[in-house]
Amino acid sequence: MSDSIIIFGADGYIGWPLAAHLGKRNPDKKIILIDNFATRELVDSVGSFSLVPIKAMEERVAYYEKTMGLNNLKFILADAREPESVDRIFSKYRPESVVHLAQQRSAPFSMIDQEHALYTQFNNLTTNMNILYSIARHAPHAHLLKMGSMGEYGTPGIEIAEGPIEIERNGRKSSVIFPRDGQSWYHLSKIFDTYNLILANRAYGIRATDVMQGVVYGAKIDETRDPWLATRFDFDSIWGTVINKYVVQAVILNKLLIYGKGKQMRGFLSLYDSINCLELLLNNPPPEGKYRVVNQMDDVYNTLELAGKVEKIAQEFDIKVQLEQVRNPRVEKEEHYYAVEHKILPSLGFKKEKTLDEVVREIFQAVIPNKSRAMKVKENIYPTVYWGSPIPLVSDKFPMPKTLMNFSLGTALVENNKKVEEEGTPADLEILARSSQSKTSNLRK
Ligand SMILES: NC(=O)c1ccc[n+]([C@@H]2O[C@H](COP(=O)([O-])OP(=O)(O)OC[C@H]3O[C@@H](n4cnc5c(N)ncnc54)[C@H](O)[C@@H]3O)[C@@H](O)[C@H]2O)c1
Repeated sequence: MSDSIIIFGADGYIGWPLAAHLGKRNPDKKIILIDNFATRELVDSVGSFSLVPIKAMEERVAYYEKTMGLNNLKFILADAREPESVDRIFSKYRPESVVHLAQQRSAPFSMIDQEHALYTQFNNLTTNMNILYSIARHAPHAHLLKMGSMGEYGTPGIEIAEGPIEIERNGRKSSVIFPRDGQSWYHLSKIFDTYNLILANRAYGIRATDVMQGVVYGAKIDETRDPWLATRFDFDSIWGTVINKYVVQAVILNKLLIYGKGKQMRGFLSLYDSINCLELLLNNPPPEGKYRVVNQMDDVYNTLELAGKVEKIAQEFDIKVQLEQVRNPRVEKEEHYYAVEHKILPSLGFKKEKTLDEVVREIFQAVIPNKSRAMKVKENIYPTVYWGSPIPLVSDKFPMPKTLMNFSLGTALVENNKKVEEEGTPADLEILARSSQSKTSNLRK
């Protein structure tokens, strides 16, 4: 087996810090970064952007290499929906570990209209299936760390188990996976992935960790502190996650928008802890041929409680906020029991790196200097996508980028690869994606 780790989705909020962190901690390993820049394009399609400015991937990698004195990150521009691209990457690198983060990850985005729902499910299911097949063919001993979501469980009203549960019916007992009850097309795609992972484990013996991750908050980790290495920070109502959004609402609106009663509870963890947990799981894979589920979170909060914490820290920055209740755009229970079993990561030595208050302070420090950027699209902070509304086939308001609505299963790729081979590509940049022209321009965004 080789000593490389492949990260699919390496341009993302979690993917880039993970790449920089693993690269620094494993100077002798090659870290292969894959992305098609879908998130940059999709966030742009709803009129938004990363509040913290981010560099193009080639600039990030070059700067990382210069400042760290390392040469172990390699970026490949590829669309993981394309089986041939994924297969080519696996046949070349035969990795020891694979991290799969390359998915459309916004629940509201998936609920915009039918086109966005189809895109989400198609993207998420095909990326996962392609990775599973290529592991089975080229890297059967590799450990796949697949990022799922705690939202797969919904709000079941009993403690969420970490792994299977015992059930009894009509006098017979059995063991089944903990019930899934996703509340958006996005979450449903993650549930499908879970079942596909289980089948791939049974059929091909793929060793996999299915990470049920809580909601992540934070603007940086140590390795992305330098503005040249910053990771994306989404703040609008479609792409932002709740704590990050609250801080932006505090700075821009002097308000915190509470969805409905604000009693909705979820598991949360900081970006520091997300990266630390992933590293810990990579260093402690399940035994060969095993599938395991890991619940990845620090603490459970309700959204009103979180608003109170952000309100308090805002005062340290001389920002006085009001809590404003708004119609809940989601269809979800607004009051419910919520408890999550999470023993595996603590048993591997996981400890929270920073308190919620410390990380929220850091988010204010990242948002305040970028206030004028957010002011430009102030209206994007309010909810725009309502689950229960009659939904069009195609939304006029948020057209899907056409570049992402068509892709090839391989033939165009072969043409493209020939071209790339003839014309050459910059050092440490390989292009496997179908529409190389539009993609390379994206690199410079
Ligand atoms: N951020 C959170 O709070 C959170 C919580 C739970 C789970 N997750 C999951 O963690 C993973 C990473 O999330 P994130 O917040 O970094 O999201 P992100 O959107 O910032 O990153 C995902 C990356 O994958 C890339 N990508 C998407 N489709 C691709 C494709 N077909 N081919 C190649 N690259 C593709 C995107 O361009 C993006 O860079 C996702 O699977 C998400 O569902 C995130």
